[in-house]
Amino acid sequence: MRTVIKGGTVVTASDTYTADVLIDDEQIAAIGQNLAGDMTIDANGMYVIPGGIDVHTHLDMPFGGTTSSDNFFTGHQAAAFGGTTTHIDFAIQGKGMSLKETLDAWHGRARGKAVIDYGFHIAITDLNEAVMEELPYCIDYGTTSVKLFMAYKGALMVDDETLFRAMQQAAKHGFLICVHAENGDAIDVLIRQALEAGHTEPKYHALTRPPELEAEATYRAIRLSEVAGSPLYVVHLTNAGALEAVQLARGRGAPIYAETCVQYFFFTKDDLDRPGFEGAKWVCSPPYREVSDQQALWKGVADNSLQVISTDHCPFWYEGGIDGRPAGKELGKGNFAKIPNGCPGIEDRMKVLYTAGVRGGKFSINRWVELCCTNPARLFGMYPKKGVIAPGSDADIVIWNPEATATISAATQHMTTDYNLYEGMEVVGLPQMVFSRGRLLVDGDTWKGEAGSGVFVHRKPFKV
Ligand code: URP
Ligand code: ZN
Ligand code: ZN
Repeated sequence: MRTVIKGGTVVTASDTYTADVLIDDEQIAAIGQNLAGDMTIDANGMYVIPGGIDVHTHLDMPFGGTTSSDNFFTGHQAAAFGGTTTHIDFAIQGKGMSLKETLDAWHGRARGKAVIDYGFHIAITDLNEAVMEELPYCIDYGTTSVKLFMAYKGALMVDDETLFRAMQQAAKHGFLICVHAENGDAIDVLIRQALEAGHTEPKYHALTRPPELEAEATYRAIRLSEVAGSPLYVVHLTNAGALEAVQLARGRGAPIYAETCVQYFFFTKDDLDRPGFEGAKWVCSPPYREVSDQQALWKGVADNSLQVISTDHCPFWYEGGIDGRPAGKELGKGNFAKIPNGCPGIEDRMKVLYTAGVRGGKFSINRWVELCCTNPARLFGMYPKKGVIAPGSDADIVIWNPEATATISAATQHMTTDYNLYEGMEVVGLPQMVFSRGRLLVDGDTWKGEAGSGVFVHRKPFKV
């Protein structure tokens, strides 16, 4: 079956031009003029962009005394409705588990449910000698990035020795180290002191995780990676101080990369101080910062200090534990430290950034594609299979209607939560049709996908 997308404006990280795109089975067969196929889709007035790639998600993840509320079907469906066709999720090693066992468990979560394509980062929490020896095999497992948490003391956090030894292995074997950079020890002290002082409201989540502790951990991780000789990818960077650490390192020519997440452009720590318990909806780590940090992030993505914008999609119900829902944010009523950390966003990233970023004059449409599609593929070993409109690439294609409008609302979203951070926001520019490896998943408001059709992406080792 050959489908031709006719007369659209193809947008890549570097070019914008009018052409027909021919899909043959799962791949892009040709790009040119007057192409013919068995089926024709008129894309006049539309952009034709690579499917979005979200390299930071947490589907069906046990965390904070509950489980994130989207699984590998609902999360994928929401992603596709938002124009995202590939994601990388975190497979979290349980204490005493091998990396293979960990990955098998996460493959099990996706089996029969996946609709878009997916990969895994392996998140190490227990680096014993057996795991040290197993680490190089992650390349064979197709999982070429390793995540370490410098925060969440007593749960996911690792010490500097573990971090450094993993970095040495990464330097030797060609995988990319990803860090959640916050100083977990100092945060733990601040949380205890806040609770002892009777401070229990959601806003204390932000106040006990100050930006300096993210900046410090970012500096530390960067310097450790430079000594180990490994590349480093800092996840969900939120503030000007942490950004400065990345800029200095990149200025030295070190292979340091960083992402921010879309929500950090829009919210501040004041959102955690909304009336009643409402602020719990905005509890995630690192927390939202100041308007000046948002400005630094906009500048950082425009000048390439930051290379990727992801979502850290980690949804929880606001009112969970009822009607068959897993527990949610209500777990932290009376103790901010028990609010499950994480926010929904996989569905909103592309449209919110098109509206505020491209239409808002923060960056070009090509940079939007680069930040949301191409750089994620390049950095995480999927390029040029994914992240670009080119002959031979997977036909992961979004036909983007630049004039379509919508009002974001939890009432109409596909994500499995009872709230949306962007509730009421008017967006201009929406996915019209979404293809994953040539399969039509979304046609306007209509779902066309089939559970189980998404596949695992066996990623290549890291190469600059
Ligand atoms: O609050 C967050 N970000 N939850 C997900 C886990 C993580 O730290 O990425
Ligand atoms: Zn994190
Ligand atoms: Zn995360």
